[in-house]
Amino acid sequence: MLEKTMLSNQTVAVIGAGNIGRALIGGMLNAHELDPGRIRATRRNPASLAALAQQFPGIETTTDNAAAVRDATVVVLAIKPQNAVEVIHEIRPHVPESALVISVLAGLTSEALQEAFEKPVPVVRSMPNTPMIVDAGATAIAAGDLATDDHMTIARQLFEGVGQVEEVPEYLMDAVTGLSGSGPAYVYMFIEALTDGGVKQGIPRPQAFRLAAQTVYGAARLVLETGKHPAILRDEVTTPGGTAIAAVADLESHGLRTMLINAVATATARSKELSKLKD
Ligand SMILES: NC(=O)c1ccc[n+]([C@@H]2O[C@H](COP(=O)([O-])OP(=O)(O)OC[C@H]3O[C@@H](n4cnc5c(N)ncnc54)[C@H](OP(=O)(O)O)[C@@H]3O)[C@@H](O)[C@H]2O)c1
Repeated sequence: MLEKTMLSNQTVAVIGAGNIGRALIGGMLNAHELDPGRIRATRRNPASLAALAQQFPGIETTTDNAAAVRDATVVVLAIKPQNAVEVIHEIRPHVPESALVISVLAGLTSEALQEAFEKPVPVVRSMPNTPMIVDAGATAIAAGDLATDDHMTIARQLFEGVGQVEEVPEYLMDAVTGLSGSGPAYVYMFIEALTDGGVKQGIPRPQAFRLAAQTVYGAARLVLETGKHPAILRDEVTTPGGTAIAAVADLESHGLRTMLINAVATATARSKELSKLKD
């Protein structure tokens, strides 16, 4: 309860309230019962801002980024990386030096962010993923040089409102991007292919789709809720001489595991390349 209070006491400016920003606002209001009057949300499109105000009654919405950050104790940067420089230059004279900056910007290091602000603002970097939209996100957070334990607690609470949070050292952010940041794309492909597998065997597509998606969801929940190693859970469903082990052997012969290990490595390498381009 004490931990929850830390976020509840903040005044939070969400700069760039698109998919990620909107999900975070929902999390703050629902999971942390933050007073809506303590949230300011910005974007450029007035019609989208009006829709946001309707979705979250009581929050302040504005196209004025400078006004939004002026009395903020937490500034969440949720714009796209290509808009980052312009927006930071716009808000930096107005961001209080004591304010915590939480960034979801892929590829921008805490050092680069601090330099862009031209003042010693504490920064926490994060890598969320889109399942946060349904409160099932997986987010990694990393402390910049000036971020204290209290800052990390506030950032953790922000993202816990929409899913699970892992604290990692900043050098692992590219790897996290390759695993959970990009991971939903791999899982969607898996669900699509599993669906096709069912359709090939004669199951109507809508039913095959629901069965495939629920199978992935249910298996993931079982892993998380039992804490059992996935190999043990797999052993539990592979009857000797049965159907599952026959399919497992087929997947192994096609290198499913190697494929996924390599996919994460490729995405991690690409994340590093993109970060260098932003330097
Ligand atoms: N989506 C993912 O899977 C994912 C995962 C991890 C991290 N991220 C990071 O999360 C960030 C946001 O992603 P998203 O999917 O939420 O993108 P998004 O839906 O496009 O949201 C970005 C928002 O920024 C607003 N914006 C652009 N320029 C602005 C400005 N000058 N001032 C104020 N607002 C401005 C845009 O609204 P207007 O056009 O109305 O201004 C838009 O709503 C990105 O930096 C991305 O790297 C995304």
